Amino acid sequence: MSGIVIYFSRAGENYFGGELKNIEKGNTEVIAEYIHEIAGADLFKVEPKVEYPSDYMKCIDVAKKEFAKNARPEIKEELEDISVYDTVYIGFPNWWGTLPMAMFTQLEKLDFSGKAVKPFVTHEGSGFGTSNKDLKKLCTGADIKKGLSIPGAKVYDAKNIVRAWIDE
Ligand SMILES: Cc1cc2nc3c(=O)[nH]c(=O)nc-3n(C[C@H](O)[C@H](O)[C@H](O)COP(=O)(O)O)c2cc1C
Repeated sequence: MSGIVIYFSRAGENYFGGELKNIEKGNTEVIAEYIHEIAGADLFKVEPKVEYPSDYMKCIDVAKKEFAKNARPEIKEELEDISVYDTVYIGFPNWWGTLPMAMFTQLEKLDFSGKAVKPFVTHEGSGFGTSNKDLKKLCTGADIKKGLSIPGAKVYDAKNIVRAWIDE
């Protein structure tokens, strides 16, 4: 069984329980690295060509506009082929209720038929939001398994939860 983690994560300023903090590694990336370590899955990070602002409020604004336009921001590198993988872990922060638009850019390029998809999200209270509906469309033909939802402020305590979810 081979797997890959396709994820988006943003370092910089972010909200933690009502307080702005600067983080060097994004919350979702922490979980992606646990999966790499525990399940031996490869890692693929989706990175926009134009980086999102490190300033939280500015980022919120850019992301809101992209969401409203249903934009497909260009990404630095596109993953083209996932045929060698059985399991695809898809990780993202909840942005405006769903996946960051750069994830749409990437996921729409891939053929998910026959894949097991395990989605995970980090968030500030909204969990998966409406992303389940979007994931169904983005991963046509996949068997979408139960997702894992982790509050951003809890990622460093979540290793055992991630391990149990991988084994489900
Ligand atoms: C642009 C933007 C939009 C967000 N929208 C939501 C939201 O709608 N609901 C929510 O619970 N959290 C929201 N958040 C919080 C993030 O989902 C949360 O901090 C997440 O853990 C960030 O992951 P990352 O560090 O991997 O990027 C938003 C954060 C940003 C920057």
